[in-house]
Amino acid sequence: MEHSKYNLEIYDNPQELAWAAASQFASLAEQSIAERGLFTVALSGGSTPKAMFSVLSNRPFADALPWSAIKFFWGDERCVAPDHADSNFRMTTETLLNKVAVPQKNIFRIPAEDEDHHRAAENYSTILRQAFNAETPKFDLVFLGMGADGHTASLFPGTKALQVNDQIVVANFVEKLNSWRITLTAKTINNARNVIFLVAGEDKASTLREVLEGEFQPETYPSQLIQPINGSLLWMLDEASASLLNDPEP
Ligand code: 6PG
Repeated sequence: MEHSKYNLEIYDNPQELAWAAASQFASLAEQSIAERGLFTVALSGGSTPKAMFSVLSNRPFADALPWSAIKFFWGDERCVAPDHADSNFRMTTETLLNKVAVPQKNIFRIPAEDEDHHRAAENYSTILRQAFNAETPKFDLVFLGMGADGHTASLFPGTKALQVNDQIVVANFVEKLNSWRITLTAKTINNARNVIFLVAGEDKASTLREVLEGEFQPETYPSQLIQPINGSLLWMLDEASASLLNDPEP
């Protein structure tokens, strides 16, 4: 299978990457709000997205962005309470949402603390269907990280969620972490208008080469499942993660 078209940008270091990602967020927000009066974004966990949140929480972005027209969702969540140290919601709240003027009603967290993980996934599906008034949500932007094992959101290698095409959110047991995650399915992510991967660090370089330039093996490299149907796909990388690419200009 051919890789779908994507754009790729490489930055000197993680700080520049975080700044560029924040600028992308701002310009897509401006564009979506001009066209549709609203900007819907799904965020992810991980250190690379976190660096971007921290840029957004400071000037010039904190003052300039129309926060009340931005709705926040999550691409995945760990099955813990929202105040737990591992919670993606908590991380985002502390690094960004508590520091800017986002109304509470614009924040749609994943209720992943539910002991019944499948019910948690169902509940988030309902939250999304109501917020988007659609069977499958169409996010203006989905931000994703990529793990050194090729996972994205909580779509981990060899897990059941990779096969799910008839649900928009799914509970996924990740054996190597011995824990459950709640995640958007690839189908939902691929329905977005824009998808941006943020990837930094040398430990991801060889996986990134396989994901972008290797054979299509999504069971091994789930990030390869991300191919927006009508939307655009942008990979934003730092030099270190891009260092093993043969063809950094696709
Ligand atoms: C999570 C994520 C996950 C993350 C990647 C990359 O909750 O763990 O959403 O998909 O984005 O693991 O994380 P790093 O940027 O920290 O490597």
